[in-house]
Amino acid sequence: MNSLISVSNLQKSFGGSAALSGISFDVQVSELTVIIGPSGCGKSTLLRCLNGLELFDGGMVRIGDITLDRKANLSHGDFNNLLRNLREEVGMVFQSFNLFPHLTVLENVVLAPMVVRKVDRRSAEEKAREILNKVGLGERLQHYPSQLSGGQQQRAAIARALAMSPKVMLYDEPTSALDPGLVGEVLAIMRKLDDEGMTQVVVTHEMNFARDVADRVIVLAEGEIIESGSPQEIFTAPRDERTRNFLQRYL
Ligand SMILES: Nc1ncnc2c1ncn2[C@@H]1O[C@H](COP(=O)(O)OP(=O)(O)OP(=O)(O)O)[C@@H](O)[C@H]1O
Ligand SMILES: [Mg+2]
Repeated sequence: MNSLISVSNLQKSFGGSAALSGISFDVQVSELTVIIGPSGCGKSTLLRCLNGLELFDGGMVRIGDITLDRKANLSHGDFNNLLRNLREEVGMVFQSFNLFPHLTVLENVVLAPMVVRKVDRRSAEEKAREILNKVGLGERLQHYPSQLSGGQQQRAAIARALAMSPKVMLYDEPTSALDPGLVGEVLAIMRKLDDEGMTQVVVTHEMNFARDVADRVIVLAEGEIIESGSPQEIFTAPRDERTRNFLQRYL
């Protein structure tokens, strides 16, 4: 078994109302999984549980050999160590880029490796340059986020996540804040990473991207997985009426 992500009966409520009611799925190494579903169905909450940004109420999340299990009775310190390890394994990219505005692109990318991993500046910069070249920002190292287009900012945010050599990349609507003309350049980076074998989980409304690149599509509604399958299955023969209604708006 070489699943890299395993989620089992994941439950999360906010003030008594359920955001996730028993989510289970696995992701194999190198797979690209797309998560779709209507607003408020729990997509962001699910991603946030996967990288320890949100603590869940029940169930289990495993990334590689790190397991967060609500039933495990860990001390406060052990639990925090586990969370820290998990966040180092999981890169996260948000709709709103979230770059540090007062730092250049290069400084944004070297920061976490230097502070968290104690990598020396020379090695951190060397790796940052390599990654920034890969995402097409080799000429923008000394720019500040405000001097970049949205697409460039998002590519810098992806580079920043990659600098920690994560096992998994999570994206929460990475192209939703972009002008239509800039969406493609960000999708292209995810394709490239897919070709290189990166394991990725992407919340997106870019159905053409999902159809072309996803290994599997998971459909959420009201905190539950209502169906999942190959893009072919989900887009041409959705079984659940809620999937059909949702897709009608995008296809
Ligand atoms: N911090 C929070 N406090 C209270 N309720 C929350 C919080 N975060 C999410 N929720 C609720 O949990 C449910 C799932 O929210 P979530 O943001 O995960 O949905 P989503 O599928 O990402 O929606 P969207 O497509 O609009 O981004 C919603 O009902 C939302 O109101
Ligand atoms: Mg969301």
